[in-house]
Amino acid sequence: MTLAFALLLFVSTSLSGVQTQSVAAAGVTTVMAITLPAYDGELEIDGTPISGSGVSRRYETPSLTPNRSYQYKVIAKWAPNTYTKMTRTKVVSFRAGERVTIDMSADDPTDRVTVIYVPTPENIVAKMIEMAAITPHDVTYEPGVGDARITIAAVKAGARGGVGIDLDPERVEESRANVKAAGLSDKIDIRLGDALEQPDLGKMTVVLLYMGDHFNMLIRPYLWKQLPIGARVVSHRFLMGDWKPDQTVSINDDYGLPYDVHLWTIKEEHKKP
Ligand SMILES: C[S@@+](CC[C@H](N)C(=O)[O-])C[C@H]1O[C@@H](n2cnc3c(N)ncnc32)[C@H](O)[C@@H]1O
Repeated sequence: MTLAFALLLFVSTSLSGVQTQSVAAAGVTTVMAITLPAYDGELEIDGTPISGSGVSRRYETPSLTPNRSYQYKVIAKWAPNTYTKMTRTKVVSFRAGERVTIDMSADDPTDRVTVIYVPTPENIVAKMIEMAAITPHDVTYEPGVGDARITIAAVKAGARGGVGIDLDPERVEESRANVKAAGLSDKIDIRLGDALEQPDLGKMTVVLLYMGDHFNMLIRPYLWKQLPIGARVVSHRFLMGDWKPDQTVSINDDYGLPYDVHLWTIKEEHKKP
């Protein structure tokens, strides 16, 4: 390398360093004050986990271009109880430099729920099917189908078909194997997915649930809007907020522990806007 070339390289490197620094110095940061739904909730901002605890969190963005608009995806995750995990997502738009307040604590229809797998004991399955008063016209829908024991029982009781959906591929595989073993593959459709993503309930007449209060509250608007009048909803243990059940029956599980089974019927009033 000649001396002249080396000198040129040094000058241009130094100059570019100065330039980068001056852009960075002109940048501004945005401070976000975020309210989480739970003290130990997890926070993720634009794909990056942000450590911390407490319901009030603070996040300062990296240096941003002044006056430019930005959009960040903010995700809160928490477990309101040992069997339910919640995910709440908000897309926040702001101008670089302005202070942003984000309330992640309020319920939102776009919340997503994951419930752990706990199968319904067989005697409670039998009570659910009895309360659903299955007829040969019925098509059943079971969000969180597990091993498909309830849907299989419903079709064996006379329903003309059943649809079950589960988030967990292992459960889907197990359900399909059980449906096949029961000789019902032509009547029962087992799907992989989140039951809260685009639920299509228009053709269903019976919904069978063992999913927890949070899931029930999120699916409730779809039940009211999409199910036909006269459709029945049967839930093992969990309620539907202020939607009072038409019937509740208490039954002991195999260990003698009491569980409630609730029945609701879709009525004209649920179709009013
Ligand atoms: C409590 S178990 C109930 C299983 C079955 N319904 C029964 O009563 O025997 C909940 C099931 O829902 C599934 N699950 C949890 N969250 C879900 C979601 N958002 N969408 C679909 N399936 C879900 C779990 O994988 C699990 O199999």
